[in-house]
Amino acid sequence: MIAPIVRSLAGLRAQTAVWRKTGETIGVVPTMGALHQGHLSLARAAREKCDRVIVTIFVNPKQFDDPDDLKNYPRTEEDDARKLESIGVDLIYVPEPDQIYPDGFATTVSVSGLTDMLCGESRPGHFDGVATVVSKLFAQTAADFAFFGEKDYQQLQIVRRMAADLDIPIEVVGCPTIREEDGLAMSSRNLLLSDRSRVYAPVLAEVMEDMREKLKGGATMAAILPDAKARVMAAGFNDVDYLELRDGLDLSLLDQAKPEARLFAAAWLAGVRLIDNIAV
Ligand code: PAF
Repeated sequence: MIAPIVRSLAGLRAQTAVWRKTGETIGVVPTMGALHQGHLSLARAAREKCDRVIVTIFVNPKQFDDPDDLKNYPRTEEDDARKLESIGVDLIYVPEPDQIYPDGFATTVSVSGLTDMLCGESRPGHFDGVATVVSKLFAQTAADFAFFGEKDYQQLQIVRRMAADLDIPIEVVGCPTIREEDGLAMSSRNLLLSDRSRVYAPVLAEVMEDMREKLKGGATMAAILPDAKARVMAAGFNDVDYLELRDGLDLSLLDQAKPEARLFAAAWLAGVRLIDNIAV
């Protein structure tokens, strides 16, 4: 059965109040729709852990730095609801914009430090938009658990920091990146790749895998980075925003592998910005 779609905060709260009364735990999976297997894996993880599962779909204008990007973002609500059917989620929350940002809305949630690097550097204001909407969704759903993909690893760490700093009583669960058979990390943005670009897109993950092996063997980033970047560019990418080794907890920059180290990449392929990260 397709889960009920609720578009108002009052409707959401009427339902969660009933669940709370009977002592049921609530899990929330925040999304912007255009659901793929990565999102569905988050919904499945929530289904396994929680009595009740809410998937939210809201294309959050505050986290887009480019108006065209916001306009072109895929919106596929009916399909999304159908995809969630087999997982058995209990409610799909698709708030009207004024349920998130009513007239006069004037608050920004800003996490410092973790937002200054990686995607934060090239997308000013993006993570403020994410932290603001996620804190609203946490407050509105009053969920006990929230599920986020490691694909957006920086976002996951920022949300964890925000929830801890604001004493929001929610456990943030990170779930592994889901990949296509050829290694490309699943993302709603992959829909924007042309057939030709789609063929070259997995090279980014391939290069990162090779870098991981070299780093595990004791190589330094300084030694392997030039060749790695050259391989990505030779595959047809137009630009590499970053290809960096960082600590997986505080995201500080590293030159050599250590426990918790992760490789992070963002690169442009024919107008589409792809990101990926892997544990080393
Ligand atoms: O990862 C996303 O899809 C979005 O950044 C999120 C967490 C749903 C907030 O809008």
